Amino acid sequence: MTTAAAPPLSSLVRDQITRPSPIRQIMKMAERQNIIAMGLDPAQVISFGGGWVNHQAPDAFRKAYQSVVADADLFHNSGGYTATLGDLECREQIARFEEHLFGVPRLGAEHIAIGMGSTQLTHDLFRTLLDPGDTVMLLDPTYANYEGQFAFSVPGVRIVPLRVLDPATWAYLPESDPSGMAREFSRLFDAHRPRMVLFGAPDNPTSQVVPQALADVMLAKTAEAGAWLTIDFAYKCQYFQQPPAYYAWSPADHPNVVGIHSNSKWARGLGRRLGWIEAHPSVVDAIERVQQCSILCPDTLSQMTMARYLKAAIADGSLTEYVARANALYKHAADVTLKAVDTHLQRPRLTPFGGLYTVVDIGTNADEFVPRALKATGVLVVPGGGFGDSIRNGVRISFGPLVRDTAKIDEGLERLGRYLRASH
Ligand SMILES: Cc1ncc(COP(=O)(O)O)c(C=O)c1O
Repeated sequence: MTTAAAPPLSSLVRDQITRPSPIRQIMKMAERQNIIAMGLDPAQVISFGGGWVNHQAPDAFRKAYQSVVADADLFHNSGGYTATLGDLECREQIARFEEHLFGVPRLGAEHIAIGMGSTQLTHDLFRTLLDPGDTVMLLDPTYANYEGQFAFSVPGVRIVPLRVLDPATWAYLPESDPSGMAREFSRLFDAHRPRMVLFGAPDNPTSQVVPQALADVMLAKTAEAGAWLTIDFAYKCQYFQQPPAYYAWSPADHPNVVGIHSNSKWARGLGRRLGWIEAHPSVVDAIERVQQCSILCPDTLSQMTMARYLKAAIADGSLTEYVARANALYKHAADVTLKAVDTHLQRPRLTPFGGLYTVVDIGTNADEFVPRALKATGVLVVPGGGFGDSIRNGVRISFGPLVRDTAKIDEGLERLGRYLRASH
């Protein structure tokens, strides 16, 4: 008997499946069975690969979960659907959170669409704002997932890269050459007329922020041309310096500015996914229609809990204290990382503004170097190529997962440095 083949998958998926996320691929390499297959002891592996945080969520947040689950009626309600854009109370509390921490003015529930984390929201946002064949402008390097997210949400989107890292000097160009950068942005914008400009603040993998002056030029050009200026604020709560003024831009004042926000990096809890879009009410209304067909509504339990937690933590001041404490922890991990890079790798790197990462110039193609280094040293870093052409000879080092075990940061970079110097 012949076994019939399954019918063909969609042509989009057949195309994309051959281009998996480079970060996922490298993380796969670090899975236990693959580590053992390489002849390594999993207990000895030190990973700088993960883009996740490892500090404790606020205890009051954990207790808010407990209070919902402990009450039979609340627990029952937590199993229901909320409105498609999210529970009104939670949307209002998120608006207060943004005002309280960052001074975002005139923000109300009408500017907030809650979803199941920023990855889902980003997909639905692209679907909401773009048409097939549109042009978008991204930084180079930037978050590796955007390219696939564009491909899956809006076919045929053309990406124009704005190079922000000089591979020869490892300078972050918006800082080292602000006027040259503003000119280059304007030149590319006028030549390609993108429908959207998108950047992360701070970005992944560089942990740099676009300076205010460049953001002002971006705002002026996009607003004048009727284009979107989208800022991915996944790491907004993680800052080691005073954030730029655009952290407080409000959609009430700037109707073409859209913020993408996530809970994943500042208040993880129970593995539940929650993120939100901040935008002009017309965008929020449109996302409602899109979410009706993607998620129907966000996670009810995490919205109930987040609303309770935020209300209390804003009122008693513990939210600001929690964010300051977490930032001190990550700042310390960043300092340990930079010192270890300077001591053991002795290669150019960037100083993070916030976030979880630094990027280091290893002076050779990282796609080839990283698997060799993993095998030889048991140390995992992420090769830069997936983030953009400018960083092919660089690696991303994440200190997020090791924030409570900084001795491992030094040990891992010592091993990697020895290997790097021996192989040069
Ligand atoms: C820049 C950026 N945006 C979005 C995300 C995903 O966030 P979420 O967990 O909310 O889907 C990440 C995750 O690493 C990220 O680095």
